Amino acid sequence: MKTVLFSLLFSGAYAFPWVANEPGVVSPWSEFANGHRLKARQQAGIGACPFNANHKPANPITDKYPYNGAKNGLPGKGKGGFQVPADGDTAHQFVAPGANDIRGPCPGLNAAANHNFLAHDGITTFNELVDAQQNVYNVGYDLSLLLAALGLTLTDGDIVTEKLSIGCDATSRTSFNSALTGSEPGLNGHNKFEADTSLTRNDYFLANGDNYKFNGTLFGMMDDTCGSNFDLQGLAKYRKQRYEQSLAQNGNFFFGPLSLLLYGAASFLYELMPNGNHGYKPDLETISTFFGAKKNSDGTWGYTAEKIPDKWTNRVSPYTNNDVTSQILQMYLLDPVLFGGSTAQGKFDTIDFGAIKDGKIDAGISATSTSCLLYQLATGNIPSSLNGLVTPTVKALTFITTKISPSFKNLGCPIPLT
Ligand code: HEM
Ligand SMILES: *[C@@H]1O[C@H](CO)[C@@H](O)[C@H](O)[C@H]1NC(C)=O
Repeated sequence: MKTVLFSLLFSGAYAFPWVANEPGVVSPWSEFANGHRLKARQQAGIGACPFNANHKPANPITDKYPYNGAKNGLPGKGKGGFQVPADGDTAHQFVAPGANDIRGPCPGLNAAANHNFLAHDGITTFNELVDAQQNVYNVGYDLSLLLAALGLTLTDGDIVTEKLSIGCDATSRTSFNSALTGSEPGLNGHNKFEADTSLTRNDYFLANGDNYKFNGTLFGMMDDTCGSNFDLQGLAKYRKQRYEQSLAQNGNFFFGPLSLLLYGAASFLYELMPNGNHGYKPDLETISTFFGAKKNSDGTWGYTAEKIPDKWTNRVSPYTNNDVTSQILQMYLLDPVLFGGSTAQGKFDTIDFGAIKDGKIDAGISATSTSCLLYQLATGNIPSSLNGLVTPTVKALTFITTKISPSFKNLGCPIPLT
């Protein structure tokens, strides 16, 4: 059984070895080799990552304002339904990001940093991420560990310092030794956690590398498609629309297994962001405030900064690994699309990985494959572009095993040997 699962897990590794040798193929990797990617990064201003010489960690929770009681990366109470930030808690009021602060593609983390639940300069740590997700959003302990571990390993945070930039490449501040670790691109790093078809961010190759800034046109599209009700059905439809847009426009479009995480992120709009004081409806006022979206007088959408809505009350029960996996599959299966990537010839090639066969997830996916889906994303050799792979190092696997394995082991997921 173990062998079978392993071969499924690694089959994706061999899906595209031929692509690089095809005449005329422009893949993300060959662009990289040609230095195009570097140019794109410079054009997008990614070379100029904000620098704050005076880093201050997140403001801690206190006895007076305990929130979920999550501290030092440990499990909190897992009981939500409380207001964030609490009245009188000046340490966690909104403070707009300044010129030295890093922000990136994740509105949930940007908002947490703007309220000092994460370090305000955007250089955060594993423990800050695990605590903030529980204290602010009542993310379940298991999912907060998984997302933080994915953030650190997939997008090249640093597993020795356990530091991560929530946006651009800040290697000098995240890495324990940049000569040994190489560059650590932070959450903006493309085709890892960040990927094409985001709700409100451009595709990397469509926008000279700007895959992380809020795009008001896209927010407006999402609002129209969802009819200002950002629920499962609306977001399934919008995600399909974004997929078709990328397929039509992006010659380097890649929709790999990690793109499953984008369905998870979309579920956060109706699972983590809704306000108890609005009857937990994923309404426009709540969602636009979290995204920092501001309506202009001409009806278009501009950007201010991500903020927790006033008098916002978080979800009551913790949002767990099982919950998010179930939402990912439901949203995908409402409007299924093919996993794979475009080549320059306008050809689309599908991939296999774990539960993805011939580019699709079958509605009859087994319970075990379902529960192990996210674990495989954290530990597998994952196709990250047409002929590139995210291959976790032994150190990264050890890190994952230490941080998150216990919960998945009980589910019978194949645990890679480290
Ligand atoms: C350690 C925890 C987390 C990490 C490392 C993380 C990372 C990311 C990354 C890299 C993206 C970009 C994906 C893309 O290409 O679209 C993203 C998107 C997103 N994240 Fe997070 N995230 C975390 C937790 C959260 C939480 C707790 C929320 C709760 C509200 C959240 C809400 C979102 C949303 C709504 C998006 C989609 C944005 C869009 O597509 O426009 N995230 N996240
Ligand atoms: C925002 O997205 C639209 C639709 O994809 C695109 O045409 C436009 O160029 C983007 N704007 C910016 C500033 O990137």
